[in-house]
Amino acid sequence: MKSNVFDYKQRAIDIVSKMTLREKIGQVTQIVFNVDNINEACETIRKIQPGSLILCWSPLGGKEEQRSVRIEELNTAQKVAVEETECHIPMLFGRDVIHGHHIAFPVPLTMVQSFDFDLINQAYDSIRQEAISDGVKWTFAPMLDMSHEPRWGRIVEGPGEDPYLGELFAKACINGFQTDNHSDKGAMLACAKHFVGYGASEGGRDYNHTEISDYNLYNNYLPAFRSAVDCEVATMMSAFNDINGVPVTGSKRILTYVLRDELGFNGFVLSDWGGIYQLYAHQGYCENSYEAAKSSLTAGVDMDMTCNCFLNNIEKLLEDQEITVQELDTAVLRILETKLKFGLFENPYAENIGYNKDEHLALAQKLAQESIVLLKNNKNILPLSRNAKVAYCGNFKDEGIEMVGTWSLDFDRGLIKNFRETINEEAPDIDLIDFDDNNCSAEDCASNTDCILAIIGEKREVTGEASSLADISLPKSQIKMLKQLKQSGKPLIGVFCFARPMAFGKDDDLFDAILWCGHGGTKAAAAAVSVLLGDSEPQGRLSASLPHSVGQIPLYYNALPGSRRINGYYGDIDPSIKNYYDCVGAPNYPFGYGLSYTSFKISDFSCEREKVNKQYIESGKKIKVTFSVENTGTRKGICVPQLYIRDLVGSRMRPLRSLIDFKRIALEIGEIVQCEFEIGLKQMGFYSETGEFLLEKGKFELYLGEDCLANQKIVFELI
Ligand code: GLC
Repeated sequence: MKSNVFDYKQRAIDIVSKMTLREKIGQVTQIVFNVDNINEACETIRKIQPGSLILCWSPLGGKEEQRSVRIEELNTAQKVAVEETECHIPMLFGRDVIHGHHIAFPVPLTMVQSFDFDLINQAYDSIRQEAISDGVKWTFAPMLDMSHEPRWGRIVEGPGEDPYLGELFAKACINGFQTDNHSDKGAMLACAKHFVGYGASEGGRDYNHTEISDYNLYNNYLPAFRSAVDCEVATMMSAFNDINGVPVTGSKRILTYVLRDELGFNGFVLSDWGGIYQLYAHQGYCENSYEAAKSSLTAGVDMDMTCNCFLNNIEKLLEDQEITVQELDTAVLRILETKLKFGLFENPYAENIGYNKDEHLALAQKLAQESIVLLKNNKNILPLSRNAKVAYCGNFKDEGIEMVGTWSLDFDRGLIKNFRETINEEAPDIDLIDFDDNNCSAEDCASNTDCILAIIGEKREVTGEASSLADISLPKSQIKMLKQLKQSGKPLIGVFCFARPMAFGKDDDLFDAILWCGHGGTKAAAAAVSVLLGDSEPQGRLSASLPHSVGQIPLYYNALPGSRRINGYYGDIDPSIKNYYDCVGAPNYPFGYGLSYTSFKISDFSCEREKVNKQYIESGKKIKVTFSVENTGTRKGICVPQLYIRDLVGSRMRPLRSLIDFKRIALEIGEIVQCEFEIGLKQMGFYSETGEFLLEKGKFELYLGEDCLANQKIVFELI
């Protein structure tokens, strides 16, 4: 059920007609909530009458554990806005609730590896309940920045390298936060960010320039935001980066013509922290604060996050007739319409609606388990025997906290158990014999253990905002120790807790088995041990390619063809040329990849038509492809057949492969199921560099398999 459009639009117009200029300027201003001095905070609210308080106390809030705000504090502040001002407009309380609140779910890049967007939607519904119970009405999520840059710490906050997964993630997250009934007091406002293209930060260096062609923008960076708009996302956050040399925060083309006129967004746009200030302070796009306020307001920013540029300049801009009252009113109306739509006037005060903690913990563990990718399992060494004698080592072997990941402002430390505690609890007969950098004798290992279990990872501080890495190989001290232990001849099992894609091609052979766990949140250890012991099946699939070496970056599956046969990603290399003299051109592990403890056979792949009429597809009709999947192994398991497409010849070059659909299918031993996919206009067409959607005649190849290297191929022709 959606709010009646007329109601809140007309009501917003009525409110604005009675507002003073100062009240309007306050409404387009977001200030930091000075929670350490409530009286001072309330005085500021009386004076400025801000439209929103941000519950974050530094530009790098994601790097810190910031105390949760108490509901009483929020309601005290809200009372001032609602009862002690002339316009009685409630404030929005915004916070970065990115992948959890008291209970951390896996970071987005990890959770997307589950390919289970129904479960992700349930996760965000739970996260909403926890955040609302603390009075947070507005979250600055989902982060939808598609990226090809594992050096960029913020790749972990988004959906990875594939636009289609980005679309699904946007939908699952936004619907989880906003619920079906936006005016329900338990509903939250979501904020799709960072619009648009931040994930292309050159060199993976955060806050850097981005070089994105318009063709790439429309086909790779915008799809997830299109999906967000289709889900009626309440707000958008403008990105720090530039498109065609114009910072997005000052770009009318991006924030108005593309976002509103082309995508149809009708909520309001919030600048990012300092985004308006940066236009003159760093980006050389504006002379000063006055110019930056004008540029961003007229471009389409409706609310200024913490810069006070609007607060300090709009009155003079109006006097100087540099902006019009209509431009200011437009921004105020958008904010008020959104507040009315989400019932803020009816329910301005926070209320602890409570939630079921045990249910959320179980959901967090289930999602973390489904997100774990089995990269290798030589000689089926996994699942681990429950009475194994284990050489126990690795920089994360006693870790728990680090796996909650970046942007975990409110997580409850008391809910976290580390790997050692979890193994002892779940498999008390496993004998954990400690080894480390200083005690890694191969002889001891050989004579006292059955296998080596190395739990290694990266700390959350090197992921997330302002956290780029030039070296994304495995920690050298860990590899040195493991090479020593491996001389024992014992099999080496790796449990990898790296949130970003890592480049470990040169060390891969050291390991006989690898569980790729990402930063799995509060229940990361429980999830990993469950898969390690075979209590749950490994079922995750990579949401971003894992390169052999950092030198290959950018390396992603849905690349455009080269001018010669150089597509090492798919092994299609002309022997007379080399991608690199010193490295292969293929990834260490490709997008969509993941093993099971069982095995599957995908067969009978067929398409209902070899030729299909263009008009038939343009009319909205689809064609079916069918196939069967069989569990040919010795355990039940989850198969994730994936369908990729390639448009062989077009007016623009098309990607070598693009994921267009997939299924998650649970199969008992020996079970066979018949499956089908439907493909139509959305899957066959693409955007031109001007945003025109094109469907062109010609041949298409369809690939079906268990990752992007899928080799079962069908060709059909659009005539
Ligand atoms: C940060 C981030 C943004 C976050 C905002 C508020 O700089 O770029 O993602 O929502 O500030 O913390």
